[in-house]
Amino acid sequence: MSRTGRELLLGVGGGIAAYKSADLVRRLQDHGYLVTVVPTPASLNFVGSATWEALTNRPVYTQVWESVHEVPHISLAQSTDYIVIAPATADLIARIAQGRADDLLTNVLLASSCPKMIVPSMHPNMWLDPATVANVATLRDRGFTVMNPEVGRLTGSDIGAGRFPESAAIIAVLTQLVAHNSDLIGKNIVVTAGGTREAIDPVRFIGNRSSGKQGYAIAQAALSRGANVRLISANCELAIPSGAHVTQVESTEQMQVALAEYFPSCDVLIMCAAVADARPKVLSENKIKKSDFDSIDLIANPDLLASLTHQKKPGQIMVGFAAETIDLKSNAQAKLKDKGLDLIFANDVSGGAVFGSDQTAGTLLFCDGPGIEILPTSKDTLAHELLNQVVHRLG
Ligand code: CTP
Repeated sequence: MSRTGRELLLGVGGGIAAYKSADLVRRLQDHGYLVTVVPTPASLNFVGSATWEALTNRPVYTQVWESVHEVPHISLAQSTDYIVIAPATADLIARIAQGRADDLLTNVLLASSCPKMIVPSMHPNMWLDPATVANVATLRDRGFTVMNPEVGRLTGSDIGAGRFPESAAIIAVLTQLVAHNSDLIGKNIVVTAGGTREAIDPVRFIGNRSSGKQGYAIAQAALSRGANVRLISANCELAIPSGAHVTQVESTEQMQVALAEYFPSCDVLIMCAAVADARPKVLSENKIKKSDFDSIDLIANPDLLASLTHQKKPGQIMVGFAAETIDLKSNAQAKLKDKGLDLIFANDVSGGAVFGSDQTAGTLLFCDGPGIEILPTSKDTLAHELLNQVVHRLG
């Protein structure tokens, strides 16, 4: 589903500050957001569904058991560009940190890959309790933007950190989040992932160790920044990032067919897949008996990236990956030039390192400037760094 950057889901938790979110809805609408409210069942004790329906002109559900035929948790997860949870109670924060799915809001949170922001509001003792502190740290680690509550007068006579911020302060933080997460809205990005396999007979194949984790991390990162993503996936056993369009392939030839379909209309191609360089000359219809299995005649596969270079239109960006065990930079530099790429990530794969791991390291090399060393980091971080460079080149 393509993003407009305007659909915002406001989750409302069961705290007294829920009434302040009525003003927040109005201010968000003033800023051009199309707001859908998903309250927790507990929050209806403070503000009823009728208020949210009247303010948003949209239906309001709290449970997955309403409008079941529309599968609301999935349709909401796919149609929203941002989720803001305001107010978030200690209980709601704990449920999200645990990955619970016991109401519509927590189901949507699990099913969506869009940027998420949490605005806590509770008594200072609850905010400072080690359980809440740990839950907030977990959510920040997972990429949620969690605001700190304001210090001031609370319900009753207590004073401390726990007050719900003013709508303007919430929107200021949201604006920053949106700026960082929408730089690929409207862009078509094709990502290849995994490793192609070349059948020898019905049982055996020539393959490689690529897990697809880096390609999937790039697809996920591009989706979170608003891109339309086509993931051409070769033999990966990974969960499909929510919102990605997927073409499953097995062989190099199938990957070539998929690229021929999707490359012409894309803005960016990120060729992360490990492509088998050769295939058996003859595919045996029957299983080859071990007594006859002493050699395989091979024929070279086409270089998919190099062949697409000739079709490259002005403005299109092509990114490659280089798997190297020796002379990392000079080999990658040669691939960058020979394949007509804008940038390439040179990966040291000596000893099978990197394959299947969540970590990576290497060097980003560019056709037009000095490279960037990437010290050991997560594949998610590399994905975003690579996309930063792509955005810069897309202008
Ligand atoms: N690639 C491709 N088609 C191939 C082989 C590789 O499009 N037949 C792409 C890969 O997806 C990667 C880049 O080219 O983005 C470099 O791949 P790599 O395996 O590192 O290099 P090769 O070109 O195969 O060269 P060599 O095996 O000699 O290192």
